[in-house]
Amino acid sequence: MRSLLFLGNFWICLHFFSQNSTCNILPTPVTFVKAGSGNEFLETQKLSFDSNACPEPINVIFAEIAKLYLPSAHNYLDHKADKGLIKFQYISGGYPDSYSLNITSKEIRIAYTSPASCFYALHSLFQLIQINPVDSSLKLPLCFVKDYPKFSWRGLHLDVARHFFTVDEVKKYLDLMSMYKFNIFHWHLTDDQGWRIEIKRYPKLTEIGAWRDSTVENHYATSPRTWNTKRYGGFYTQEQIREVVAYAADRQITIVPEIEMPGHARAALAAYPEYSCSGKQQPVPGLWGVFEDVFCTKDSSLHFLQNILEEVMELFPSQYIHVGGDEVPKTRWKTCPNCQKKKRILELKDETELQSYFIGQMDQYLKKRGRNLMGWDEILEGGLSPGAAVMSWRGTEGGIAAAQQGHFVVMSPGSHCYFDHYQSKSTSEPLAIGGYTPLEKVYDFQPVPQELSAQEAPFILGGQANLWTEYIPSFDQLTYMTYPRAIALSQVLWGGSKAPYQTFEEVLKTHHIPRLMGPILNTHTSLSFMKPSFKFKRIPNGISLGFEFKDTRESVAVSSNDGHDGVWLDHEKTLDFKRTIKKTRLYNLTFLSPCCADSLTLISHQGLGAQVSYETPPNERYNSGDLTLVDGQFGARPWRGNQWAGFDTNTVKVRLDFGKRIRITELELGFLYEPTSWIHLPLEIRVSTNRGKDQSYKVNNERCNLKFQAKSDHIFLHIEGLKTIPIGFPGEGNIPWIFCDEFVIK
Ligand code: ACM
Ligand code: ZN
Repeated sequence: MRSLLFLGNFWICLHFFSQNSTCNILPTPVTFVKAGSGNEFLETQKLSFDSNACPEPINVIFAEIAKLYLPSAHNYLDHKADKGLIKFQYISGGYPDSYSLNITSKEIRIAYTSPASCFYALHSLFQLIQINPVDSSLKLPLCFVKDYPKFSWRGLHLDVARHFFTVDEVKKYLDLMSMYKFNIFHWHLTDDQGWRIEIKRYPKLTEIGAWRDSTVENHYATSPRTWNTKRYGGFYTQEQIREVVAYAADRQITIVPEIEMPGHARAALAAYPEYSCSGKQQPVPGLWGVFEDVFCTKDSSLHFLQNILEEVMELFPSQYIHVGGDEVPKTRWKTCPNCQKKKRILELKDETELQSYFIGQMDQYLKKRGRNLMGWDEILEGGLSPGAAVMSWRGTEGGIAAAQQGHFVVMSPGSHCYFDHYQSKSTSEPLAIGGYTPLEKVYDFQPVPQELSAQEAPFILGGQANLWTEYIPSFDQLTYMTYPRAIALSQVLWGGSKAPYQTFEEVLKTHHIPRLMGPILNTHTSLSFMKPSFKFKRIPNGISLGFEFKDTRESVAVSSNDGHDGVWLDHEKTLDFKRTIKKTRLYNLTFLSPCCADSLTLISHQGLGAQVSYETPPNERYNSGDLTLVDGQFGARPWRGNQWAGFDTNTVKVRLDFGKRIRITELELGFLYEPTSWIHLPLEIRVSTNRGKDQSYKVNNERCNLKFQAKSDHIFLHIEGLKTIPIGFPGEGNIPWIFCDEFVIK
């Protein structure tokens, strides 16, 4: 009812508008209707506005908003006007942050309920503007917009610890966020590899903790590792932080700072080792991952962190202060006399409860000062005090549990919200941490899990994408990983009338990508969603590769190492690859595309498309389907998490059926060796058929070429791994993983 009231007499003229119009505003508004035929425009040379009725601080930054959309924006703005073309009207009540925008042939009317909603209305307005290339005049479709957000937490995160971003870069990040109506910037200011916020009381945090002497190159799981030994670092002074907080506030964005504890603390402990368990002096690491040395639970460490939080609260007025709490190994606590004493005195069951105590101490400290604690979902373990909020990153389970216990939750599951993951399967994607989160997957994100009841669902404040920057060393790379995926997320979180994905993609392509990449914003943006995608299908005696092209000008050129070019071209968009009997053949598929060329290498062999039966199934996280082992592609390197069959067992048994008897002379089997990810080579492989005797082979390399003579319609592989991870390797004593791909039958 409230939204109807707020619209007032705007409803009366609604019947003059046409309903079925595409909307170029993203995130899509709740209601968008074009007037009359849908082809009428307001044309103007000036965007004069009634600055008296435009609320603060929007009137002050009006020109700054205009500059994001219009070249030479000052030429269009008329500061002298006190009435102007754009008229503002404050309306009390209505949905929080709701606005309406009405463009007629004579004027533009914005009805707003809060400064934020006025700001959102202006962004919607500017997104509708077209510029006449002949006389540079402005043209706006006559339309009516009614709009309000679905979620109150529409967040983007930025890790400035792994790689540092300057104040100007952070401001540009905020500008881009503001265009898509994000309202929370989660600033991850501290981690193992760098402390980035000046704390007056503890100057060594930035003198020592903000700098590292080396940074690991390539993917950190690559062995052997290589290092860049250039000193790297940086930090923000308190004055700079104040400037950024104010800049964000003007743009209706709240900054939630994160000070990581008790884990991810190596940079702080490099500066003040006395607050660790051992007191041992160690450098700021240049390696990614999780480190055993964390803050000790003794009182002096807690006071140190609380003193830091005191300064943080002075800088950041946000209701929530994020204290991390994720990935805390308990190794040091288990042998630390101080931690063990604390556990005894407090009668705590185990180290998990010690972590819960630690977070509880911070929670009480913040609460006394009128703030609320937020942390990653690990803070639920061992119990969490009322009022603390949870950011669910290890899937949605933590968020569900927290909401069911009455905690507020921000949903940020790795599956949909980790923008440090790859966005296409193309081998030309720049190095990323792993995972696969394409644009369409983000678009499908549902922040409120179905498991929650109607009473529990309101505890979901909204959602957030995280930009961890281990593999994001530059601002260009940052925007490439963020956009356009952040726009898909804004569709989910703003939650207006979310169009089908194809419509969204069209609007993105025609209006938003050109703006992001155009001369004003000049932003490095990913076009990975435009890349041709392909799907493998099993066909009799082989596989078929189906393509989906986004652009009619795209095509595939096929060449092979023995001159058989494109002989399997079925029709325009499918290529069939039949099993090769004589010898394996390599194909290079080159995708010719005006925007995003790409390539793929396929190996054609006798096992292509064979039936694969797993006696030991792959772990569901690393199972990309039963064609993986026989799709003509070796698993991608560096390892991207997908394109491999990954087993969490030390025995793997798998059978390949070829459909008819074939003559086999050799096998080439691919395995992965990534000991930092607990992935080890198997020890031995036994190959058998119904006839003849089994043959055993030792495995020494990622690629095993095995001489195996047989005539059979199938083979059976029994792969034996290490019983446990050897001492001295990450995860020692645990069962190692076995990763396989491809199984080439020659
Ligand atoms: C996290 O990604 N460790 C919160
Ligand atoms: Zn300790």
